[in-house]
Amino acid sequence: MKFLFINGVNLNMTGVREKGVYGTQTLEQINADIAARFSGDECEFFQSNCEGDICTKLHQADCDGIILNAGAFTHYSYAIRDAIASISIPVIEVHMSNVFKRESFRHESVISEVCAGTIVGFGKNSYILAAQSFKL
Ligand code: DQA
Repeated sequence: MKFLFINGVNLNMTGVREKGVYGTQTLEQINADIAARFSGDECEFFQSNCEGDICTKLHQADCDGIILNAGAFTHYSYAIRDAIASISIPVIEVHMSNVFKRESFRHESVISEVCAGTIVGFGKNSYILAAQSFKL
């Protein structure tokens, strides 16, 4: 299968910022672990801190499934929500942390309604569980 992993705003700081929440591995290390796990599949990784770039990447996607950690955009980006709604490839929303155990503003996602499913709270494994679910 062909997977596209998209990480949004501040996810490039993974392994550097709030290590108690997001762990000590960098995004590059996490992506390498994911790619190794899905060595029989094609994995593309994209990260951007810019909302519009994420929308464009979604518009141009050509794959079987998209795994999206939109970061804080999750909680307020109607642009990313509309971009997800405008494509037919299924998108799974993921979060490394358990957003429901955190601040109340993180409890709301404006993208969940247009995603195929949501996986939260399993660190790096949130991405892996999401990709695996496309194979079920
Ligand atoms: C996050 C949770 C978001 O609330 C936060 O803004 C992030 C990361 C997560 O992976 O747990 O940047 O999406």
